[in-house]
Amino acid sequence: MHYDIVIIGGGPGGYVAAIYAGKKKAKVALIEKDKLGGTCLNRGCIPTKALIHSANLLNEIKNAKRFGITAEDIKADWQAIQQNKETIVKTLRTGVENLLKANGVTTYKGTAKLLDKNTVKITYNTGEENITAEKIILATGSSPVIVPIPGHNLSGVITSDEALALEELPASVLVIGGGVIGIELGYIYSTLGAEVTIVEMLPQILPRQDEEIAQELKKILQKQGIKIYTQAKVQALQKSGTDLTTTFETSQGIKSVTSQKVLMAVGRRSNIEAFKDLGINIQKTGVTVDDHMKTSIENIYAIGDVTGKTMLAHVASHQGIIAARNALGDNKKMDYKVIPGCIYTEPEVASVGLTEQEAMELYKGNIKIGKFSFVASGKALTIGARQGFVKIISDARWNEILGVHIIGPNATELIAEAALAIKLECTAEELVETIHAHPTLSETVMEAAMDLLRMPIHKI
Ligand code: NAI
Repeated sequence: MHYDIVIIGGGPGGYVAAIYAGKKKAKVALIEKDKLGGTCLNRGCIPTKALIHSANLLNEIKNAKRFGITAEDIKADWQAIQQNKETIVKTLRTGVENLLKANGVTTYKGTAKLLDKNTVKITYNTGEENITAEKIILATGSSPVIVPIPGHNLSGVITSDEALALEELPASVLVIGGGVIGIELGYIYSTLGAEVTIVEMLPQILPRQDEEIAQELKKILQKQGIKIYTQAKVQALQKSGTDLTTTFETSQGIKSVTSQKVLMAVGRRSNIEAFKDLGINIQKTGVTVDDHMKTSIENIYAIGDVTGKTMLAHVASHQGIIAARNALGDNKKMDYKVIPGCIYTEPEVASVGLTEQEAMELYKGNIKIGKFSFVASGKALTIGARQGFVKIISDARWNEILGVHIIGPNATELIAEAALAIKLECTAEELVETIHAHPTLSETVMEAAMDLLRMPIHKI
């Protein structure tokens, strides 16, 4: 078979590129060796959010008394939570399958390997076949990194791949890595009743976040009972009975924690097996691509985690559309300036644009900052969500919005306004002049912009 475009990998990068190209009437094939939807749908974004919703619901019911609601005998049923998660994942996976079919995409369920720049070998359980294409899009994603510390291969050491589908809720978990995965999974386990310790190597959890926001989340998570060690270096893991003991070095000396499971959440590495022998430029972080998503081989594009750029599903999908358009003769560039990032703890964290530290450096200190706390928001109080704040950063001359960072209720939804504001080069005045409905959480964004202009209304 010969195709206009063959896409390797059916995650949110690959399947979106396939649907787009299918809609443009190209002859498209998508090859996936596992389940459609990739990490995001099967082992990442969606299953974690399903578990987080269960965890949050448990918390809400436990705390419902102050709203005049009492409930007794509240408990989390791990098996039922897993079942609900599976149903959601299956529904979405069927949706992706149907969309691919409806848009004329041929799906191959096998393992792809590039033989030359136009030929892909597909290996099945029962045999193999070759297909050819004018253009190829690599969307093979990434896998969890395992740090080769002594004991890393003991049973009970897991990665995010296994963490979401454990047969039982572990009584205790030690998480190595305080990045997005470590924090979200640590939060889920802790909220459902496990004892959680997070060990992060750097001075700050969520090292890419605005420092003030990361500090605030750390404080809140600690209050919720999670033990967090920063600037801590894991030395070794050892078996103690059926449990594991992790030894790590901190500024206060060597510590050891014994837990049922140890979760490695220290980053992800791009999957390059399908094409590593072809001579494409590959760096340590992933496949090299230009702004058009083109690799060093003219007719081959790469998108998503395999490029090692920003490992987020929504970035992969966006890159997928850019690559599909360019493969079909367009000339579109990828713009990385406005990428919202979301962390689904309670409270949630969301950010877009520059952090305070980045803006200070880029604008040589000529920036303004406005803040507004949810404790002063009428809507936040009605839903019992007093924690957190909105922080807006602008340049000092034009008050152009450079970055918005939110920790608080529905932060992951509130960030959309901020993303649009930065994309449209909005100023703080324009945000303030936009009427925000009352009572809503979105008013806090407007109030933070008012604070930036030194004219806050609901703040002293
Ligand atoms: P990450 O790069 O976000 O965080 C890894 C953390 O582990 C870093 O803080 C790093 O300093 C720390 N670390 C590395 N080696 C260590 C060691 N030996 N001991 C202690 N700490 C160590 O990677 P993560 O959390 O694995 O996530 C992978 C990717 O998936 C990221 O790009 C992330 O943005 C994405 N993701 C996004 C989500 C979201 O948007 N909500 C959810 C989950 C993942």
